[in-house]
Amino acid sequence: MSDSVEITSVLKEDRVFPPPADFGARSGGAHVGSLEEYRAMHKRSLDDPAGFWGEVASELDWFEPWTEVCEWKLPDAKWFLGGKTNICHNCVDRQVDQGHGDQVAILWESETTDSQGAPEIRRLTYADLKRETAKLANVLEGLGVKKGDVVTIYMGMVPELAIAILACARIGAVHSVIFGGFSSQAIADRVEDADSSVVLTCDGSWRRGTIIPLKANVDQACKLSDKIKSVLVLTRCQNAIEWQDGRDHRWGELVADASDVRPCEPMDSEDMLFLLYTSGSTGKPKGIVHTTGGYMVYTYLTSKLTFNLRPDEDQVYWCTADIGWITGHSYIVYGLLPNRVPTLMYEGAPNHPAPNRFWDIVERHKVTHFYTAPTAIRAFMKWGDEHVEKHDLSSLQVLGTVGEPINPEAWIWYRDVIGAGRCPIVDTWWQTETGGHMLTPLPGATPTVPGSCTLPFFGIDAAVVDQDGNELPANTGGLLAIRKPWPSMLRGIFGDRERFVETYFTKIKGMYFPGDGARRDERGYFWIMGRVDDVINVAGHRLGTMEVESAIASHDSVVEAAVVGMPHEIKGTAIAAFVTLAGDLEPSDELRQALRDHVAQAIGAIAKPDMIRFCDALPKTRSGKIMRRLLRDIAAGTDSGQDVTTLEDLTVLARLRGDEE
Ligand code: PRX
Repeated sequence: MSDSVEITSVLKEDRVFPPPADFGARSGGAHVGSLEEYRAMHKRSLDDPAGFWGEVASELDWFEPWTEVCEWKLPDAKWFLGGKTNICHNCVDRQVDQGHGDQVAILWESETTDSQGAPEIRRLTYADLKRETAKLANVLEGLGVKKGDVVTIYMGMVPELAIAILACARIGAVHSVIFGGFSSQAIADRVEDADSSVVLTCDGSWRRGTIIPLKANVDQACKLSDKIKSVLVLTRCQNAIEWQDGRDHRWGELVADASDVRPCEPMDSEDMLFLLYTSGSTGKPKGIVHTTGGYMVYTYLTSKLTFNLRPDEDQVYWCTADIGWITGHSYIVYGLLPNRVPTLMYEGAPNHPAPNRFWDIVERHKVTHFYTAPTAIRAFMKWGDEHVEKHDLSSLQVLGTVGEPINPEAWIWYRDVIGAGRCPIVDTWWQTETGGHMLTPLPGATPTVPGSCTLPFFGIDAAVVDQDGNELPANTGGLLAIRKPWPSMLRGIFGDRERFVETYFTKIKGMYFPGDGARRDERGYFWIMGRVDDVINVAGHRLGTMEVESAIASHDSVVEAAVVGMPHEIKGTAIAAFVTLAGDLEPSDELRQALRDHVAQAIGAIAKPDMIRFCDALPKTRSGKIMRRLLRDIAAGTDSGQDVTTLEDLTVLARLRGDEE
């Protein structure tokens, strides 16, 4: 844990917003209609998890029934033991089998627009998805992919990305999606770790009117790792790409020639479904392992209840995340399709061609459910209400947020300006590791309070505890802990059992520790206070300080680097780096830029420091630990510092503040 666990701020917020009285009437009925009903169901879900989850799982199709709902041998959970199912079947084939083949499953809008300003729109029905996932599944098998193999996916937000993950699930291959903003080094690292020899990519992807050269990044990754044997390339941008015969294959051609018949492979509940890499406090990103049955059931139910999805009510659901993150996995694809509500995928940036793009989309498609990140909300606030006001957003029913704490100003703005005061706001706290929502309001049941993610979802036994696992009194900051297993919990870190146990199950004995600090108020509502480890959350994206430090330190001109988070108006937290230079190198803006570019190359543009400050040495305690709290205060502007800060200055500062050991 970081040397300075600071959980001090106690936000005062007294505004309570009950679910709108007409919510049920406007949404086809609330699945959970009152706080009393929530409490009774929550109690039952904890008292009788087998009964509760067994009933939920029975709403989906199984090829063979499970014999036991849950087995918990700390830290290992298994769910729906012995059951055989397939998540692609439940997302796609099941809907076709039940006569809904003609309904829209995925609604896609391009970033690019034609000369009249109109985007390209694609509507894929469940029947289309069945055909396309079967075809791609056959193509993957033709490339030698077998059940259990890891397929790497590095694509833009096009429907084929959703088809790709479903096609993997169809044949029991494990997918590892890498966000398109990550660098070739990041691809190579993940491919090596996962031992993955097949990569699916696009020639490029559109972002704010420019092309991100995805294929070129994969080419570069192939130079860094000799693991990659086959690259399947979808043409999206028609940009020039290099081609290596034997290794590179054209998606369009292979899919056109492939059979459209490929039944869904029966998968054991505990067969691996996907790996998703995320940052931790030490070392390289870790591959979080999710399995089939529990993840399927939990993402299905959370989607249904957190958003109040109803398949026959003309709902259109839009989550603005990228499928490269867990939010996109769980709440664009896997949780949504079994609920048979169209899921909208938008290809590009929120401000292209203009800052009203999102609201234009909401109006055009009559979006009823909108799920985004606080960072985006703060950006919209800054861009101005006029971009919102010119659109009819009256279709909206539920507004969601995820990824980082939402400040009350942004929450109120979201409610008033986007939701016109009509729509419940669901602030959902969860993580890559949890697979699905853990703490969240239910829109027809939970009174909401700006800045609080309110109460645990069904089956979740959450508490605020001290390091010994003792529950703390109301309004006392402590560690967030989950005391019982839940269906979609991570099953491990790929290839690193020790790190799995150490990261999640040793900080608080006998409980899952997510790495966040929190407090619970007198109502029992949770208030997340942010990470208490060396992970920073930049614009809702998780980065390890050490990961960024080692990227900076790998530059020739750098001796040592320390990275901390600093408050940022839009991003919530931004990256500040303190750097000592080799020899007698002089600080300069060129060097600053070179270091930023270097980080972008090592990790991706999202990890570029917003501030780089040079010092002649880093301030350390007598035992050699970097004094991160001091650096955080300097970065936040609490303490002044010049461009080149001497160690002497920093040491004096530390002593004055009583920071030294
Ligand atoms: O610190 C919490 C923050 O994001 C972390 C998880 O990041 P990641 O695995 O990338 O998943 C993000 C999308 C689920 C958490 O440990 N976080 C996520 N949601 C919230 C949040 N912090 C406060 N409020 C939230 N609603």
